[in-house]
Amino acid sequence: MNSKQWQDPRFLQMGREQERAYFIPYDSREAALKGRREDSGLFQLLNGTWDFAYFPAWYELPEQITHWDKLPVPSNWQMHGYDSPCYTNLNYPYPVDIPYVPDQNPCGVYRRFFTVEQQEKELYLMFEGVNACFYLYINGAEVGYSQGSHCMSEFRITPYLHPGENEIRVAVLKWCDGSYLEDQDFLRLSGIFRDVYLLYRSKNHLQDMEIHTGLTELTARMRFCAGEGEATVSLLDGEKCLMQQTVKDGCVRFTLPDARPWSSESPNLYTLLVACGGEYIPFPVGFRTIGVSDRGELLINGKSVKLKGVNHHDTHPTKGHVLDAEDMERDLYLMKRLNINTIRTSHYPPAPEFLRLCDKLGFYVVDEADLEMHGFTTKDTGCCYHTYDPQWPTDHPDWGEALMERLRRMVERDKNSPCVIMWSLGNESGYGAHFDTMAKWAKSRDPERLVHYERAWQANNPPWFDVISSMYVSVPDLEKEGSSQDKRPYFLCEYAHAMGNGPGDLWDYQQLFDRYPRLIGGCIWEWADHAVCRDGKYYYGGDFGELTHDRNFCVDGLVSAQRTLKAGSLEAKAAYQPLYAELAPASGEHPLVRLTNRFGFTNLKEYELRWSVELDGLAVRQGSLTLDLAPGASCLWQVPVPPEEQCRLGRYLNLSLVRKAPCAWAEAGYEIAMCQLPLAFTPVAQTEPCREEAWQVSEADNKIHIRNPAGDGYTFHKIRGTLCGIWKKGRNLLLDHMHLTLWRAPTDNDRHIKNKWGLFEDNCAGWNLNRLFDKCYAVAWEQNGDGVTVAVSGSLAGIAREPVVRYQARYRVDRGGVLHVAVDGDVNEKTVWLPRFGFEMTLPHSMEELEYYGMGPYENYRDMCHHVKMGRYASTVTGEYVPYVKPQEHGNHTAVRCLRISDRQTGRTLRVRADGALEFQASHYTARELTEKKHHFELEQGETYLRLDYRVSGIGSNSCGPELLEKYRLSEKKLRFGFSLELL
Ligand code: GAL
Ligand code: MG
Repeated sequence: MNSKQWQDPRFLQMGREQERAYFIPYDSREAALKGRREDSGLFQLLNGTWDFAYFPAWYELPEQITHWDKLPVPSNWQMHGYDSPCYTNLNYPYPVDIPYVPDQNPCGVYRRFFTVEQQEKELYLMFEGVNACFYLYINGAEVGYSQGSHCMSEFRITPYLHPGENEIRVAVLKWCDGSYLEDQDFLRLSGIFRDVYLLYRSKNHLQDMEIHTGLTELTARMRFCAGEGEATVSLLDGEKCLMQQTVKDGCVRFTLPDARPWSSESPNLYTLLVACGGEYIPFPVGFRTIGVSDRGELLINGKSVKLKGVNHHDTHPTKGHVLDAEDMERDLYLMKRLNINTIRTSHYPPAPEFLRLCDKLGFYVVDEADLEMHGFTTKDTGCCYHTYDPQWPTDHPDWGEALMERLRRMVERDKNSPCVIMWSLGNESGYGAHFDTMAKWAKSRDPERLVHYERAWQANNPPWFDVISSMYVSVPDLEKEGSSQDKRPYFLCEYAHAMGNGPGDLWDYQQLFDRYPRLIGGCIWEWADHAVCRDGKYYYGGDFGELTHDRNFCVDGLVSAQRTLKAGSLEAKAAYQPLYAELAPASGEHPLVRLTNRFGFTNLKEYELRWSVELDGLAVRQGSLTLDLAPGASCLWQVPVPPEEQCRLGRYLNLSLVRKAPCAWAEAGYEIAMCQLPLAFTPVAQTEPCREEAWQVSEADNKIHIRNPAGDGYTFHKIRGTLCGIWKKGRNLLLDHMHLTLWRAPTDNDRHIKNKWGLFEDNCAGWNLNRLFDKCYAVAWEQNGDGVTVAVSGSLAGIAREPVVRYQARYRVDRGGVLHVAVDGDVNEKTVWLPRFGFEMTLPHSMEELEYYGMGPYENYRDMCHHVKMGRYASTVTGEYVPYVKPQEHGNHTAVRCLRISDRQTGRTLRVRADGALEFQASHYTARELTEKKHHFELEQGETYLRLDYRVSGIGSNSCGPELLEKYRLSEKKLRFGFSLELL
């Protein structure tokens, strides 16, 4: 070990084999065709429990290690009690002093033994991922050194071996100069975190392989370690051999006129099997082409395809960066279920197994080099994206090869994967001369695939980039790009930051992708929350004693760390779904619907279209059909129902596109698309049992009591102008005054606007809506033949601010005992748009059962409501809770016409009917509790809090993305809504 080496950007490896295509040799044809590498007699997995010794600083390493602990391989040692995790985004977790890293550089030494059985073979030791750099020793001799955490490192170890038992020792350092190139926004974790294995190779073995396919043609070039070699190459469809050639010059060419093409929708794979020197080496091959049309479309197999993507990091709540094949498969199955067709492997190449699965399941992959240098933008103070300095690794000659080899090692390893359609040079690493060199190299090495690097904008996107990419562009700006002069495809490598409750607006983005040829789609940021789970509790940045950290900014997944779905996941599924439906003007007897098949390659006849018509949430007619609709085509469909029917609340057509056949990732009947369309109806009036209450109104204790002879009725506070009692059988349902509020517990996406809404660190910045005063100017009541009316005027104002809303409220208790509430509010012209506006009520905790007619069953907001539909739903207050790792606003329902909340035990039920529609939320947590607590596990339940809102602002993705679109903000200056309440 030599500390000069790991702090020298030109010292990148020692004794490592040249990078090459990934493949596994097998000792039998059968095993090779099955393709499970564990079954190969020429492959020996060294995963398992290794001896381990940890030293907080490398220089503490003794001559002889006398005490060994045990550690699983692969793993991150911080997840096993050594050192601790550290979450930082841009900032490096040490000073920016290239190429030096801290002297107190922790070191983990790994040891295990293995027995050499096949003496006549060449042995290679493979490391799929070690963070950050390592020295390898066999039987005490230094074999080599490698860095580049997510790159493959291969060592030929034959000369170091002896018959019988041999020792492998690996000394891993936490940091090296390469760490400056690995400033990805994630938990910083160390160790051997991907598989380690031995390959037993024959003497003159296949060293590298390069396969190219068209739609019917395949060419392959082989390189043997002795330069030349003889091989028998077969092309197989499953087990069936289609063609075979024995070649001596290393070149094969096959033509398969009726090849079934590979695409994300139909990932047809063939196998190219190379047999040489007793080895059988299978390569999955897909016949597909990648291209760009003159309108900037992305063409797969000649057809325009939209990338419906997500960014994928390797993250696991207890294992850190370790994902085994089942974890990967689970992620990919879940993505398939959400209609995701593209993965950007942010921000490093995945384990080879991941690409194998993408080939098999059908994903378009944007493979990204293990390169991010974001921390250079924060090496002074502030954060300036435009900063540029030729002394940085982007240009400095000492770093040229360090950057280049990261790209090369990825391209060479993954060049034969059908799923890879684009190379990415890295992420957020500024721009400099080295990027020109890298892009040009990638283009010449692999002319077929597209090359992108988001930061190329810093150099005005030079022509050697095939794709222009951007991140977090707003909907209006994206629309401008749609009609730009640059005819290169435009790709949102990141958009719709999925942190916490969200993302909203996905539908708006998708509409633009669909409308403009050059907008080829994008990848949602990001797949899963990064959080650390200990004893069932989820932690994030700042929970591990870091010296600098970025709080919960890593908890930003479309699915949770444990891969549960949230409303945002389902919204993505809806935006990405392959069926689009809209009402068409009907001329005949029946409603007419235009259906569009948004698949690129699949006829809709492979699916079943189920439909139902619901009146007031109850299905009255249903059916199912198979539509013979070509990819991209539309058709008109007459819904076999009358143009109009009678009902009270609404009449809707629900469409559901389901799988006919089961597949690896979904059962038969699995719904891949869902649409709801409103149908015309004739409203029927509500007929209520006619009751005549004899109200007695009295005033006492500053209250207005409205009671019938049984003692049922309502109480209003005369000074505060609020409803403070709803009485039935001598008991008051309200535990507190029902009052108007504006606050919602900020979502992660409210993290900027919340400072204008509320009072946080800066007491001059906001309207202080979280410190709200409800002022009553006047209260008056009157009784007439219709019942009793209480009129209130008042205002809502944050502390130290002028009123935000001035309102008139009218409460009318009718002769039947129903309370009608109507509010008319005027919003101060000067104020910011509001989180929400409506009433809050505190009810006993036992008011738990919910029934409603509105948008459900999942939480929804104005810009996140394509995954839900109008219907009649039952729920519970407890069940409405959404356990975001950092507590926040959740559980809203839009377009609610009526709801009931009740106590199952006593039958006590509060019925709410909207005059038009309202939004509601029911929770056992106050907005304050959700605002102040930092983790889900800190929350304490209170009573039942019911919110009845005029409106709640949308969600957006402003945690990292653009501000919430205007149309989704509560920015009206006139607020008017009403509803009625009745305690049953
Ligand atoms: C992007 C970056 C990602 C991640 C994201 C915020 O700018 O490329 O790695 O940091 O922001 O979550
Ligand atoms: Mg970054």
